[in-house]
Amino acid sequence: MIYPRIIAHRCGGALAPENTLAGLNLAARLGCRGVEFDVMLAADGVPVLIHDETLERTTSGQGRVADASSAELAMLDAGSRHHPAFAAEPVPTLEEALRRCTALGLWANVEIKPSAGQDAETGRAVARLAAAAGGKLLLSSFSSVALRAAADEAARLPRAVLVGAIEADWRERIAAAEACALHCAARDLAVARLEDVRAAGFPLACYTVNRRDDAERLCAMGVSAVFTDRPDLWTASEM
Ligand code: G3P
Ligand code: MG
Repeated sequence: MIYPRIIAHRCGGALAPENTLAGLNLAARLGCRGVEFDVMLAADGVPVLIHDETLERTTSGQGRVADASSAELAMLDAGSRHHPAFAAEPVPTLEEALRRCTALGLWANVEIKPSAGQDAETGRAVARLAAAAGGKLLLSSFSSVALRAAADEAARLPRAVLVGAIEADWRERIAAAEACALHCAARDLAVARLEDVRAAGFPLACYTVNRRDDAERLCAMGVSAVFTDRPDLWTASEM
């Protein structure tokens, strides 16, 4: 698995509304080669880009994502909470986002983010759609159930196990998902675990790293990539 070194977190990082097409456009304009975004199922089973299980923090809507249809979500404003300049920016579907990534030449880390109790169906739906879309992408999830369902649906799509701290069971979790990489929280990274993961031949990517010096330190330690809200801290040739 070849990672872009710097991956824009939630599409464009902190510079655009999270998990939107505007974020993807901005990431590409900054020269990013890779982006990460979160995907959950709407009430009608359509995978859409959103981080929280509820709508209030990032959109003009209210209630649970899992209770809103994709048509209802498409009417919401997912831009104004970030800045009025992004008013009327919609909640994109995964299909729209992957199409935009392909058009912009962006590698995508699709994080499967199931609503409570929807792990398997979210993993399946995301993998099915991602496999059909093609493009340069990697699936990841905190949910072992979602990753396993994605593996069963589209075995050839690369997968990464996503964790906070790397616990003692990391090898088993990678094996269960037939994953090719591990993603972990930078703040919880233990050097001994990093060395074990690297010795086993698995790339490690860390979230969320918003300072250049922290990213450089992690890369010098052998971390392959960092997720950042501040892709503007790097030039295009550095990413
Ligand atoms: O995929 C890395 C990172 O996005 C995981 O945390 O909460 O920002 O989705 P979160
Ligand atoms: Mg994420």
